[in-house]
Amino acid sequence: MKTVEIKLGVRTYPIYIGISLTHVGDYIKDKNITGKVLVITNTTVNKLYGDMVVDSITRSGFDVSITKIPDGEEYKTLDTVNGLYQVCMDNHLDRNSLIVALGGGVVGDIAGFVAATFMRGVPFMQVPTTLLSQVDSSIGGKVGVNHPESKNMIGAFYQPIMVFIDISTLKTLPEREFNSGLAEAIKYGIIRDKKYFTVLERDMTKIKALNIERVEYTVWRSCQIKKWVVELDEQETKGLRAILNYGHTIGHAIEAATNYKTYLHGEAVSIGMVCIAKIAKELKLLNSMWTHRIERILTRAELPITHKVSTNKIIEKLIFDKKVLNGKVRFVLTDGRPGRTVIKDDVPEALIRKVLEEQKV
Ligand code: NAD
Ligand code: GLY
Repeated sequence: MKTVEIKLGVRTYPIYIGISLTHVGDYIKDKNITGKVLVITNTTVNKLYGDMVVDSITRSGFDVSITKIPDGEEYKTLDTVNGLYQVCMDNHLDRNSLIVALGGGVVGDIAGFVAATFMRGVPFMQVPTTLLSQVDSSIGGKVGVNHPESKNMIGAFYQPIMVFIDISTLKTLPEREFNSGLAEAIKYGIIRDKKYFTVLERDMTKIKALNIERVEYTVWRSCQIKKWVVELDEQETKGLRAILNYGHTIGHAIEAATNYKTYLHGEAVSIGMVCIAKIAKELKLLNSMWTHRIERILTRAELPITHKVSTNKIIEKLIFDKKVLNGKVRFVLTDGRPGRTVIKDDVPEALIRKVLEEQKV
């Protein structure tokens, strides 16, 4: 087992990596929870791991209930949150209670938002079961839901009291979802750690074959890099946390242009990372050896690096983002090589169009 500690003063919390779900209850025991425990999951994850987690928490002597939301990003709404508030009321949750988010990023974001807002804040714990949620969304306290017009528009920064990662849950994860999470792991190599990028290149075959030791290392190293960013810029006010959006500006525009139906998040980010690497190359910030290596590692992860979306539609979405973001679209670019970044808000539209066209098949 590996541990990473997110040090945020009174909000400091541990991430346990490589530990069985059968021990969730033991770890809650150490956390001074005297009230009821409510596990929030979805219908898919419940069938796989619901009983295991509830049994573990029961064995540790807690009064525990479990509630399921439907599976899907389309349920990441305030309506779902409202239903969950009712479940919290019905179960008499109070500030000594604990909400456990069991599932991928959708469950984690929703359950975290419920925890942040019910009675102005109930302790919560993340038990992420997708690779994407294990390397990214369960860490750092961004919680929230979608607005009909824009993703993740309603939310809060609210840190969990612990993150509990059982790598073996990835065995049941569909391969496409696993690959989607790999995009975020590769992102960390590009934005922060050239050596990690090289390790991912070396280990890709083993990681894809679910070699537990290599997957555990990948989750651990990714969590460490996210820790570095979150500790320095918890609420994204200092300009650093934005680097986690590497490849995401174009990725989000691609997701929005296809109504979130064609690409998984990591797939769109993969295309976005290739586009932004090529933009960096055109701006003489990255050489072609690195753009090739970025394309190659994503291809080996079986992620898309080309798209079939109308360039005009993607640009339209980028312009929509620009309106929302006070007239500036910020792009995170590599500065010279993976591991170093620069943020630019003056990338010419013509260059973005050119690269999007080049990546279109
Ligand atoms: P997800 O939560 O939709 O999970 C993907 C699919 O895998 C779902 O069908 C889910 O039921 C299923 N699943 C989960 N665990 C499983 C398992 N172990 N075995 C089999 N199936 C399993 O998707 P995701 O990629 O985990 O998360 C995406 C969400 O995360 C988006 O809403 C995104 O906005 C959010 N996100 C948040 C942050 C953050 O910092 N809060 C960061 C990145 C992404
Ligand atoms: N996933 C982006 C962030 O946590 O800031």
